[in-house]
Amino acid sequence: MDAAAPRPKENQGEPLPRVDARLKVTGQAHYPADLPAASIAYGALATSSIARGKVTKLRLDDARAVPGVLDIVTYGDMDKIDKPKFGNSSATSIGPLHDRTIFHDGQIIALAVAETFEAAEEAAQLIRAEYEEDKPTASFDSPGTKTVAAAGKSPMFKEDVKAGDFDAAFAAAAVKIDQRYSTPTQHHNPIELFSTTAYWQGDQLVVHEPSQNVTGWKVELARQLKMDPANVRIVSPFIGGAFGSKGPMTPRTAIVAVAAKRLGRPVRCVTSRMQAFGTQTYRAETRHRIRIGAGKDGRITAFAHEGWEVTSRPDLYVVGGTSATGRMYGYGSVLTHVSLVQADRNTPGYMRSPPETPYVYALENAMDEMAVALGMDPVEFRRINEPKTEPIGKKPFSSRSLIQCYDQAAEAFGWARRDPKIGAMRDGEWLIGMGCATAIYPTAVAPCAARVRLTVDGDVRLQCGSHEIGTGVRTVAGQMASERLGVAIDKISVEMGDSSLPPAPVSGGSISTASVCSAVLKACDAIRTKLFAAATAEGGPLAGSHNEEFDLADGKIVAKSGASAKVENVLKAMQVGAIEEYAEFAPKGATPEALKKLYAGTPEFHGGEQDEDSVKYAFGAEFVEVRINRYTREIRVPRIVGAFAAGRIMNTRTARSQLMGGMIWGIGQALHEATEVDRRYARYVNRDLQDYLVPVNADIKDLQVILVPEIDHAVNPAGVKGLGELGNVGTAAAVASAVFHATGKRIRDLPIRIEQLLV
Ligand code: MOS
Repeated sequence: MDAAAPRPKENQGEPLPRVDARLKVTGQAHYPADLPAASIAYGALATSSIARGKVTKLRLDDARAVPGVLDIVTYGDMDKIDKPKFGNSSATSIGPLHDRTIFHDGQIIALAVAETFEAAEEAAQLIRAEYEEDKPTASFDSPGTKTVAAAGKSPMFKEDVKAGDFDAAFAAAAVKIDQRYSTPTQHHNPIELFSTTAYWQGDQLVVHEPSQNVTGWKVELARQLKMDPANVRIVSPFIGGAFGSKGPMTPRTAIVAVAAKRLGRPVRCVTSRMQAFGTQTYRAETRHRIRIGAGKDGRITAFAHEGWEVTSRPDLYVVGGTSATGRMYGYGSVLTHVSLVQADRNTPGYMRSPPETPYVYALENAMDEMAVALGMDPVEFRRINEPKTEPIGKKPFSSRSLIQCYDQAAEAFGWARRDPKIGAMRDGEWLIGMGCATAIYPTAVAPCAARVRLTVDGDVRLQCGSHEIGTGVRTVAGQMASERLGVAIDKISVEMGDSSLPPAPVSGGSISTASVCSAVLKACDAIRTKLFAAATAEGGPLAGSHNEEFDLADGKIVAKSGASAKVENVLKAMQVGAIEEYAEFAPKGATPEALKKLYAGTPEFHGGEQDEDSVKYAFGAEFVEVRINRYTREIRVPRIVGAFAAGRIMNTRTARSQLMGGMIWGIGQALHEATEVDRRYARYVNRDLQDYLVPVNADIKDLQVILVPEIDHAVNPAGVKGLGELGNVGTAAAVASAVFHATGKRIRDLPIRIEQLLV
């Protein structure tokens, strides 16, 4: 592993270690379920053993008889509160205890509360349900699914993008492919389990729960409990694995809050890993049909991408990655269509690069097939189809460094040494394959607020209700303040993860660094303006310099002429102990209601495909070497190189760490990860980390990340494109292409496992 932090290049920030690293490695970072609370009671969930039907009877006697049991919350007990409303703040519209209907396997039927965790677990397991059972529909191809077009039906999907006349162009194309691809069900398995701890202080409700969206949850939980949002506080200072799984709130939160109210005690419920498969969100299985037509010169004239995604009966959750795949290359014509297939399953949800991971996997696997059909080098094929504008709205890209990424990654990887002939590269009993693929992720940004306070002692306190989901956002926000205020990073404290702080948008869609840093920048610049005005005022230490440019460094204001004044002395002259600024950042193109929506927990997203002036994406190129044993078909990935361009890099260490983690997850998607669904019962089978495979250290060998310098001022004031989700896009397609190169077998259904290479 290449973990050494390189020297910063232009537009690339210092590779500072994370400001919370010491807390994390010494166990002093307290996660939400670590909260020490006096008189805490423990909750355990009872869940349904059927996937479709009705609970006709619930017998609680045995559960109530367990010593230490305090309460059981079940049907009838939630009647005074409102059901969840499906959306970005709520994972599902199912109110599991509002209604005896069972929509999916593992649906919550009760919460047992007891003096100890063990008693609560025992009681939950002794709750006996009787059901009226219907035959459930598990997935694609099961009898009883309902298929609907996503566009116009799901509130999460605007339109099927189109350009030109695909049918005519495809019919006329000299070289074409028409193939189908699929990705499996995948479940979040964060090491930090899902948990809720709730307690009441009079009318005030405090919830400690790992969350990527404390403001959205505060508002949605208040709505469900019919409370004033000002009386609800969500606290989530550290999160152990988020990736979308802690983005929307699940129904458990309100149930635990109600239990705490009934008991007049704090209640904590930690969901077991097995229960989380049914009570949290997941990445649903997808299918794709891709048609590409090109001239003999390799120029694509026709591109069609049809996608199918599984969702639940009540909620039309969709990822719809065609808005990115339809704009990836300079296709002559584009046709896309996304369909939702409803089955008796829990509602899916966000999982790292939700649209791009499955849709770009299909596109990039198809691009490699097309390069083979054309007899063309796959990198050259992408180069030929590099567009001047995106094909749908004919807008320019705010910046697009894809070819630079390909060139730098190809060079570092040694792509020139690749023999394009299938199966030609060998090392003893190992067949060697090399493949590559494009990574793309939309660059979005949302309104965000931040409060910054600079004291006479030179300390800075930065407050922002964003979330440290492991990306290092505390560190990069601190770096932005350090740079603008000329204060060393160790003098800066950063508070996040609390809905009582200035609101930030959901930490999803790779928007946090851009949004938070833009707000911090605005607050710091307001402080700078005040300081400079005071310093240059009549009688001030820099009087007469007010027309000059200036900077803040090492606790001093330095004018261009060289004149300087200590910040400490300026504050003293102002007769204040500190300057504090509260900034509200709204991106270009924000509506007049944008800030109101931020406080309401429903922030507007800008950027990506939505702006008038340009489309905004981060890009990357990934190259993979696979080795496949001739006899056993064992598949190894000894080498992976990714080059990525994502605008300004706030911190090269945290950025590389995100991209590395993304590529490793991509290898897992290619070779390991899949939830097996028992089609008879619509039930997940491998519900633990023993059977749900993810890559371990032994699976990852040489991994290299290249940060390609890129400057883009159009994306946001910070110049930052998000990259938390970029790294795992395209990886699986690069692996599939490398497997084809080694073996001549094109695997179109993930994950790629030994058995697919045996026949
Ligand atoms: Mo991410 S899946 O947008 O948390």
